[in-house]
Amino acid sequence: MDFPVVTIMVITYKRLNEIQQTLDALRKHISYPADKLRWLIADDSSGADYIESIKALKRFKALNLEFAVTPANGGWGRNVNHALSQIETEYVFQIEDDYLLRKPLDLRAGIALMETKPEIGMLRYRGIAGTHMVTHLMEADISAYLPDHQDGVHMVPGKLQYCLLDSGSPTAYIYSNGAHLKRRSFHQFYGVYPEGQKLGATEETFCYTVKSAMKLPNAPAIAILPDWFYMWFEHIGQSYQLTEEDRGERHMMGAAPYSKITGVPGWETEHEQNLLLTLARKVPPGGVIVEIGSEWGMSASLLCYGSQQRNIAVHCVDLFPNDYRGDMMAHHAHNLRTAGFGDRVIYHRGDSGNVGEFWDGAIDLLFIDGDHSFNGVSRDINAWCGHIKVGGIVIFHDTAAKSNTNIHTLHIEVSQAIDAWQKQDGAHWRELPSVDSMRVFERIE
Ligand SMILES: C[S@@+](CC[C@H](N)C(=O)[O-])C[C@H]1O[C@@H](n2cnc3c(N)ncnc32)[C@H](O)[C@@H]1O
Repeated sequence: MDFPVVTIMVITYKRLNEIQQTLDALRKHISYPADKLRWLIADDSSGADYIESIKALKRFKALNLEFAVTPANGGWGRNVNHALSQIETEYVFQIEDDYLLRKPLDLRAGIALMETKPEIGMLRYRGIAGTHMVTHLMEADISAYLPDHQDGVHMVPGKLQYCLLDSGSPTAYIYSNGAHLKRRSFHQFYGVYPEGQKLGATEETFCYTVKSAMKLPNAPAIAILPDWFYMWFEHIGQSYQLTEEDRGERHMMGAAPYSKITGVPGWETEHEQNLLLTLARKVPPGGVIVEIGSEWGMSASLLCYGSQQRNIAVHCVDLFPNDYRGDMMAHHAHNLRTAGFGDRVIYHRGDSGNVGEFWDGAIDLLFIDGDHSFNGVSRDINAWCGHIKVGGIVIFHDTAAKSNTNIHTLHIEVSQAIDAWQKQDGAHWRELPSVDSMRVFERIE
C-alpha cells in the first residue's frame, strides 16, 4: 500500500541554533519516503531575518522547507493553530524546535498503524506526561504496509503492538506538546489550542479539554508505541512549561523557589545559577561533573543544561533519603525529566564521604553542597578535591564569602573548612571571584 503524505511541522520562535539541531536530528533519524514528506516551519513572527537565516542553511535545501508565519507574535497557541490551518495533508508530525531525536524513528510504522486503525487520532512519540497512566496493550496487523516489520516486542512480522490510553486515566496529562503524529481530524474533534495564554496554561487547558472529550462516542483515541514511553527526545531549550501538575508536586518542595532558567526548584540564587551554568559550559567534551548535595535538582539541572551535547557525564551524589517528603531520588529524577534532562544524570545514593572513597577518575567540575558542617565539608574536600584535574574547578555553596550578603552560622562553618584546606593545600589552587554565597577554586597544579 502507498504511504500518505505527512507534514512535519516544526514550531519555532527565534531559536536558530536549536532549530538547526532539531532539523538535523529529524533528517538523520526519521524513515519515511522522502517524496511523501512536507516540511513546514511554524514561526511566531520571529522576523524576516530569522526566516532568511533558516532559508540560507544549504543542508536543508533538499527539504524544500515551507513557512507559516503568524502576522504578529501571538504566543504558542496562535502560532500552532495558524500553521495547522494551512496544512493540507491528512497527517501532521508536530514537534518543537528544541527537541533532539536521539534514535531512529520509523514513521512508516506509525502511519501504517494509523491507516489500519482509523480510531486512532494521535500517536505520541515523546513519552507520556503525568504520574501514572492506564493503557491497554493492543495489536495491529500492518502487513499491508510493512509485511516484514518486527516491533521488538512481538517479533511477528507484519504485526505491531501499541498502547491505547484509557480515558479514565487519573491524570489529565494524557496529551502534552511533546512530539506526536496526528490526523487533522484530531483538532476537528477536540478543537484547536487555546490562544493568548502562556505555554504551561495552553497545555494545561488543552489537556483538560482532551481528557473530558475522550469519553465521548467516536472520540479520536491516543496511542503510543511501547518503545516510545521512553523519552528519546532530548530537550535542549529552556523549559517554559509550568502546569498544574508541576505545581501540585512542587507544593511538596517546601519553600524552594524555582529556577527561572530550568524550572527546577532548589536553593541557588539567580547569580549562583548563572555561575553554575557558565562553569558547566566550560567543561570540555567528554568531561566529568560531580555534584554533592542534589535535593530537588536545581543545581543538577543547570549543570546538565550547561554541559549538554558534549558527552559530559553528570554525577549526583546525595543521601537521597526516603523521608516525610517521599523518595528524594524519585523527586529529583522527576524534576530533571520535566526539565528535559531525564537521561543525563548518573545517581549515587549514599554518604558523599563514602562514595568519594571509591571514586576513580578525573573530575573537571565539582560542586559541593552536601553536609554543611565543618567536618562534613572537610570530609568532602578530602574525598573529592584530589580527583580534580589541573585546570578543573571546585565550587562551594553556602559559604561566608565576601559577596554573601546574608550570612548565617552554617556558612561560617563551610568557610572555615575551606580556609583550613587552603592553609594546607593552597599552593595547588587559585581562588576565583566569589558569587553570592559561592566560593570557587581552580586547580593550578
Ligand atoms: C542544600 S541541599 C542541596 C541543594 C541543591 N544543590 C540545590 O540545587 O538546591 C543539601 C543536600 O545534601 C544532602 N546531604 C547532606 N549530607 C550528606 C552526606 N553526608 N552525603 C550525601 N549527601 C548529603 C542532603 O540530602 C541534601 O539533599
